[in-house]
Amino acid sequence: MQHVYLDNAATTPMAPEVITAMTQQMQGDFGNASSTHWFGRQAHTVLDASRKQIAASLNAKPDDIIFTSGATESNNTAIMQVAHAFAARGKHIITTAIEHPSVLQPLKQLEAEGFRVTYLPVDTKGEISLADFDAALDDETILVTIMMGNNEVGSRMPIEAIGARLATHQAVFHTDATQAYGLVAIDVQALHVDLLSTSAHKINGPKGVGFLYRQPKLLVHPFLRGGEQEKKRRAGTENIAGIAGFAQAVALLTPAVKAQHQADYLGFKRQIMAALDEAGVAYAVNGSVQADNLNHVFNLWLKGLSTYALQTNLDLAGFAVSGGSACTAGSLEPSHVLTAMFGADSPRIGESIRISFGAFTTAADVAAFAQALVKIAQRLSARAK
Ligand SMILES: Cc1ncc(COP(=O)(O)O)c(C=O)c1O
Repeated sequence: MQHVYLDNAATTPMAPEVITAMTQQMQGDFGNASSTHWFGRQAHTVLDASRKQIAASLNAKPDDIIFTSGATESNNTAIMQVAHAFAARGKHIITTAIEHPSVLQPLKQLEAEGFRVTYLPVDTKGEISLADFDAALDDETILVTIMMGNNEVGSRMPIEAIGARLATHQAVFHTDATQAYGLVAIDVQALHVDLLSTSAHKINGPKGVGFLYRQPKLLVHPFLRGGEQEKKRRAGTENIAGIAGFAQAVALLTPAVKAQHQADYLGFKRQIMAALDEAGVAYAVNGSVQADNLNHVFNLWLKGLSTYALQTNLDLAGFAVSGGSACTAGSLEPSHVLTAMFGADSPRIGESIRISFGAFTTAADVAAFAQALVKIAQRLSARAK
């Protein structure tokens, strides 16, 4: 049976070039980058080149990139370390209701420690309002952590406008760019972002590696303490093979490639909607379909059909989609993102699926998927009658 992978927001397959770069690394330059002998120096050269490549992708300096084990570690580091470093200036933090759990859980911990957290609400497009942001910002705000784009519905946040507002405010600005990094142009200088998190496995790189961009003047203690790696900002032997693979994945994502992916994915959404419209399937998009969203994420409400039945039937037919984010998909927890958008009582919460496209998704995959979705939706609705 043909298997089609449409869950790229959960993770992506590695690009062949990435596998080649990593294999070379593992077979040849396996040294510890902290060792002073030839093997160590070889590994250090790869580390330096990778850091340079990645820094250039954000208009950052190589020294501002701290390699981590992924976006979860980057988010935890940014949030916990900033809050603890600047608590004397105030204990207020602003975020949104639809952040990833690796942002929300550290914030919960900080609330237990006495910090005050404002969760900005979102509308039915999954977007926040700048008026709400302005109303929340006060003299005690020390941290703003707002994602660049959402992993369940693909909505974008007004990072540039918030960065401009914070340029003259004491608050440190962190953004979780995990889903956005592979699709949109990011310039940390122009955006006035102090900290930015991302992860390799969302962009056809390996799992278990990411980075935290940290603005050079921002001094906070390391989250992981131990050796002096990463200029004493993150202890632990660097995952050189993973980092080399990450840099290779970044090298593949030129501005032209990103723009092409955004256009292709928008086309894929329209292709699926056209098939559903033609077959008269009752559905609605959770969020919006607009060119500047993160177009790899497509969240659909299939009216009256359960997420579980849809996902299981699609899986049996060879199509991998998600019932929400990968972190919540295995649990019975309702999506906090759809809840924030539509309210806890909305039928959408138990009747939606997330389809997410990637660099290797083809129009033929999408056509086959659309056909299967129509068939399954028709069969399930006939059974429900
Ligand atoms: C928006 C967002 N932030 C953070 C993460 C966590 O990334 P990682 O798997 O690298 O820890 C994910 C991955 O699911 C994500 O989608």
